[in-house]
Amino acid sequence: MARNDDAIARANGCHRVSGVRTWNLIEPRRLRCCWIIVPAIASLLSNPGGRLLAAEPKPEKIWPTAAVAADHPLAGQAGVEIFQQGGNVVDAAVAVGFALSVLRPGRSGMGGGGFMVIWDASKRQGVALDYRERAPSRSGPQLFAKSPEASRIGGAAVGVPGHVRGLCHALQKYGSMSLREVLVPAMRYARNGVALVDAELDHRTRRKRRIPDAERFRHLTNLYLGGPTDLESGQRVTSPQLKALELLAESGAVAFYEGPIAHSIVDTVRAAGGVMTLDDLKRMDVVERSPLTGRLQDYSIVTMPPPSSGGVALIETANILDALERTKSKRPAEQLKHNSAKYLHVLTESLKHAFADRAEFLGDPDFVDVPVTRLTSASYAKVLAERIDFAHTQPPTSYGRYLPVEDAGTSHFSIIDRHGNAVACTETINTSYGSLLVDPKFGIVLNNEMDDFTTAAGRPNAFGLIQSKANVIEPRKKPLSSMTPTILVRNGKAVYAAGGSGGPKIISATIQVLLNMAVFEMSPREAVHAPRLHHQWLPDVLRIERRPFKGAPKIDPMIPDALKLRGHDIQLTNDGLANVQAVSLSKDGLRAASDPRTSGTATGY
Ligand code: DON
Repeated sequence: MARNDDAIARANGCHRVSGVRTWNLIEPRRLRCCWIIVPAIASLLSNPGGRLLAAEPKPEKIWPTAAVAADHPLAGQAGVEIFQQGGNVVDAAVAVGFALSVLRPGRSGMGGGGFMVIWDASKRQGVALDYRERAPSRSGPQLFAKSPEASRIGGAAVGVPGHVRGLCHALQKYGSMSLREVLVPAMRYARNGVALVDAELDHRTRRKRRIPDAERFRHLTNLYLGGPTDLESGQRVTSPQLKALELLAESGAVAFYEGPIAHSIVDTVRAAGGVMTLDDLKRMDVVERSPLTGRLQDYSIVTMPPPSSGGVALIETANILDALERTKSKRPAEQLKHNSAKYLHVLTESLKHAFADRAEFLGDPDFVDVPVTRLTSASYAKVLAERIDFAHTQPPTSYGRYLPVEDAGTSHFSIIDRHGNAVACTETINTSYGSLLVDPKFGIVLNNEMDDFTTAAGRPNAFGLIQSKANVIEPRKKPLSSMTPTILVRNGKAVYAAGGSGGPKIISATIQVLLNMAVFEMSPREAVHAPRLHHQWLPDVLRIERRPFKGAPKIDPMIPDALKLRGHDIQLTNDGLANVQAVSLSKDGLRAASDPRTSGTATGY
């Protein structure tokens, strides 16, 4: 598959759209300083004694060889350790993926699945690995007709896990080290224990307080949440996953899919009302897909195709913004400053279009016909852009119900090396601790990815998403996902890698961070720290971060009113809208940022 990024686009039909060199619509870096200067002046005026510099961030680190942004400091460290032993980006990614299973077991891991987009700079070639869970072969559209709760907790909620198959496949085909070698950091963390970082403690403590039935989910409580005693900050915790990792190191993926781990998972799921069989596990596979490609100014977008909706929605949004530039922004007055009301309005309107199409058209492409070419075409974006009113938002054509859940069952990491090779990888068990089922022998935290299917007509999933027939349950089908691991490539080299966790907010957050870096020329840290918005078409609410974490720049207080005047139903939130991990490569080296909305650390060497 030695094709360059242009060739991949051709192979994918019309997935690629023509780009432009500049965006009048969006003003780049020279205006970006507004959001730094305005709050700084405001703070000086309100605090004339002047401790303005107290919040001054430390200079951003630049690494010469490789950088990793991940959800836990030691996960990034696992990647660096592998690089230091001569590993490549995929070796590092596999080490990080397994380390996260141990370090942040409530977010991603062996009981879940994921998507990995890999860019090989020497071959100028990308690949998208789909190791998303599949519906068990004995499931079907009526599985949750009578009990909506069953798609979220308990045995029926569990999709067949693809994580181990995916990472082993990635390593074998694109890595250079053995499974035993890359498992070393995860096994060490599991065996010796690691101190609970505050975000992890907080996650486990919140989960424990809200366990719906302590007896039914006792393995989760006992193995991960401290049992009868409260967990404490800094407390060292080992992992019950050690035995599983050791078996994997000895025998590879077969130990998980056919050996004692498989038996234990099936027993756990079946005893809790699920329908998964040993054969489902044995047949679990990885699908190699051509990445979906598009254009963002001078960059080729290389992102995840269906069964993720993320790549399609991201490219559709980028295309609409591009189309707007070509049509409506010829007048200088239409130039948009970063996070100005006009920018946020236009971005929201574009996202609403993309999410409406997500709801209508997207599902597993191996089961339904997904009109990817049309949705990501420039001509379609032009039609949508024409419908955008710069002064008012529009009413949705149907209504949904919003059931917010915390950002919790997913982990993204991004890696780039100095040659421009990259991995953007998002893995998930869906909501926090997935189905709440843990196999008692190996500590595998089992996902509840079945809730990402359309479980009944008009019924919103855990993220408030209302979905269509394209996404109903069928045996071995994959539930539609919002995960959006994305790499931007220029001159054959990966320049930016990003993605995140947070359900549908992943899509809006990833495009905003990529726009911030590629168009507004922000560093990864500035791009990730900047306040964000989220709109998913239905519910028809525009959520804007007020100040999502201590030290974040604030959104200008005038902005919400300006957007209300355009008809948006605004919800200002103190919560972080998704959690993004971003890396960039420039002439002077590699920069990386892990989202301070949760607990990760960017690292490199
Ligand atoms: O694949 C999806 O779209 C969801 N399972 C992602 C869930 C998620 O991001 C939860 N949050 N951290």
